[in-house]
Amino acid sequence: MSFAPFTVAVPGKAILCGEHAVVYGHAALAMPVQRHLRIDFAPRPQSGPKAGPKAGKGPLIEAPCWDLQLELAQPSAQTQVLARAIEAAFAAVPAASRDLLLTIDSELPRSAGLGSSAALAVALVRGLAQLAGEAQVLEKETSRAMEIEKIFHGKPSGVDHSVIASERLLAFAQGQVQETQIPVGKTLEFVIAVIGSHGGTAQRVGNLAQRRERWPQLYQPLMRQIGALSDHALAALAQGDVHQLGALMDVNQGLLNALGVSSAELEQAIFAARAAGAYGAKLSGAGGGGALLALCQDKKTQVLRAFSDLGYQAFESSLQVQ
Ligand code: PMV
Repeated sequence: MSFAPFTVAVPGKAILCGEHAVVYGHAALAMPVQRHLRIDFAPRPQSGPKAGPKAGKGPLIEAPCWDLQLELAQPSAQTQVLARAIEAAFAAVPAASRDLLLTIDSELPRSAGLGSSAALAVALVRGLAQLAGEAQVLEKETSRAMEIEKIFHGKPSGVDHSVIASERLLAFAQGQVQETQIPVGKTLEFVIAVIGSHGGTAQRVGNLAQRRERWPQLYQPLMRQIGALSDHALAALAQGDVHQLGALMDVNQGLLNALGVSSAELEQAIFAARAAGAYGAKLSGAGGGGALLALCQDKKTQVLRAFSDLGYQAFESSLQVQ
């Protein structure tokens, strides 16, 4: 099958409030960030006397950003999970051609709390649906992406791929999007720093699940409290009250630390961001490393400098008034 090559680009995500608690049905607020993952979809050249090295049948995946090439039919030990996830995308859209050359280009660091695997899942199913001539239907796309996220993370809450597919600020609870039309009283200016890899969401979520099962009386109230913070954050957003939103982020970070999902490096960078003038700062995602986001407004330059002094890469991301 021949078709004109096309590119699907999707953003990453950051969690403003509520990670981990959202796995247990509590409320979370998540937003897209201005860093993207792109997949180029092109027909794979057919084998023949004059065929180049990329010719063949079935999907060939190239991801120079991850230093990886994957012949889907022959995954290596390192690419097995990725191969299963991509196979699940093809299984979800069986009408799409399989003779594809997929080139992945990602600005999202992997295992860093910025939704890299969810972005891959959404971009894959969106591109394959386009190839199959389907109209884009958000519910279909998110349920397909969920199946792929399960391969990466075991028991994902669904918040990551929901926010990435809809590309807007979402309130999420009980495994579902609760609100998309969230009024935001002000453009919010964030700086996001990447502290390093967090080493895998499934493991962090699994370790916390064990602690919660062992000491429910300690962990369940913390999770409920985090859910309540998300509700307060929603109200603060609507009022454009950046001071309250920042305070809520700080309290959320304290509770994430109490849950055992922060790290010395994250805490150091979070305290540095606050000292540089951030209104609030917290980790995003599974924690133990990964990304942190600081609400900065007019203090972006100072916070960027603080992260740079600590040797961390950081970028700006804003949340527009809707
Ligand atoms: O670190 P990430 O981008 O995989 O985000 C994980 C967010 C959690 O709440 C910890 C897990 C989930 O499934 O919502």
